[in-house]
Amino acid sequence: MTRVVRVDPLDPREEDLREAVDLLKGGEVVIFPTETVYGLGADVFNERACRKIFELKKRPLDNPLIVHIDSFEQLFKIAKAQDRYLHILERFWPGPLTVVLEKKDVVSDVVTAGLETVAVRMPAHPVALKLIRLLGSPIAAPSANVSGRPSATSVEHVLEDFMGKVKLVIDAGPTPFGLESTVVDLTKSPPVLLRPGPVEVEKLVEIFEGLIVPDFVREKKGFSGVPPSPGVKYRHYAPSKPLVLVEDLNKMPQVLREHPNSVVLCVKEHSHLYEEPLVLGSLENPYSIAQNLFRALREAEKMVGKEWIVVEGFEEKGILFAVMNRLRKAATEIVR
Ligand code: TXA
Ligand code: MG
Repeated sequence: MTRVVRVDPLDPREEDLREAVDLLKGGEVVIFPTETVYGLGADVFNERACRKIFELKKRPLDNPLIVHIDSFEQLFKIAKAQDRYLHILERFWPGPLTVVLEKKDVVSDVVTAGLETVAVRMPAHPVALKLIRLLGSPIAAPSANVSGRPSATSVEHVLEDFMGKVKLVIDAGPTPFGLESTVVDLTKSPPVLLRPGPVEVEKLVEIFEGLIVPDFVREKKGFSGVPPSPGVKYRHYAPSKPLVLVEDLNKMPQVLREHPNSVVLCVKEHSHLYEEPLVLGSLENPYSIAQNLFRALREAEKMVGKEWIVVEGFEEKGILFAVMNRLRKAATEIVR
C-alpha cells in the first residue's frame, strides 16, 4: 500500500511530515518533492535503506546518488568542500545546483557507488528542506522514476512508477522547475559540467572559470572509455514510444510524412502548424518548456493510436540547453 500525504508546498506543517520522518528513521524509503523533480529518498547514513533505492528504481549499482542537505554544517560533515568554491555555493544554495566533491568516510560506498567523490545539493523546496531538518541527517535521493524513464514532476508520475512499491509519497503538487538539477564536478580543475539544468550554462561559465562542457552533454552518446559521471552511459528520460527529435524544423513536414501516426510536441508559437499537438510552453518563457517536458513525454506515451513522439528541437541557449540535453538522450532518432 502506498499512502499519499498532501502538504502545503510553501509552508508544510511538521505534523504532516512526521510519518515520513519516522519511516526514514526506520530505514524506509520515502518519495518527496524538490524544486526540480520528485526524489526517492533514504537516510544517507542508513546503508540498507540506500540499497533499497537501487532495488526500487532498478538503478545500476555503479550509478551514485545525490545527497540532499539543509545546511553547510551537513555539507562539512559529508564532503571536503574547497574554500575557494564556498562563496559560490552560498550564492546558489539552496537551489538546483549539485556539486561533486571529495567525500568523507562517513558516506557509504553504496551512496557513491564506490567513488571517492559525492554529489551534494541543498534543495530550495520548503518541503525537502524541512524533511531533512526534521530527520536531522542528509537524504540520499535520485529522481523518483524507474531507471531510464522520464523523471517525475508530479505525484501522478510518481505513482505510475512506484504505486504499491513505496510506503509513502509526499505530495506538494507539480515541481517548479520540472527538470533535474545542474551537476558540476568541482573535483576537477577546471570544473566540468556533468549535467546541464536550471542554473543556466552561460551563468556557470561566468562563475566557474574555464568550465569544461564535454561533448557528451550535447550529444546522444559521444564519449568512450571511463565515463566522467556514471549516469552518462545509460539511456535516460525515455518514454515507452520511439522519440524523433527534429532539430532542423524545415524537415518537420518530411518527418511527419514518414511518421503518419505521431503526436507532435511543440512550442505555443508553432501549435497552429500541427494537428492536435501537445504544447510544451512558450519561447517567451523558456522555463515553461522545461517545466512541461517530462509531463508531456509521459502524456504522449499514453496516447492511443500514436506510434511516434515527434519533438521540435530548440536553440541551445539558457534553460533550453538543458532541455536539448534531455531530448537528445531520450531520442531514438535525431533529424538535423
Ligand atoms: O534535481 C535533481 O538533481 C534530482 C532531485 C531529486 O534532487 N535528483 C536527480 O538524481 O536527478 P539522479 O540520481 O537522477 O541524477 C544524479 C546524477 C546522475 O547522473 C549521477 O551519475 C550523477 O548525478 N552523480 C551522482 N554522484 C556522482 C559523483 N560522485 N560523481 C559524478 N556524478 C555523480
Ligand atoms: Mg534521474
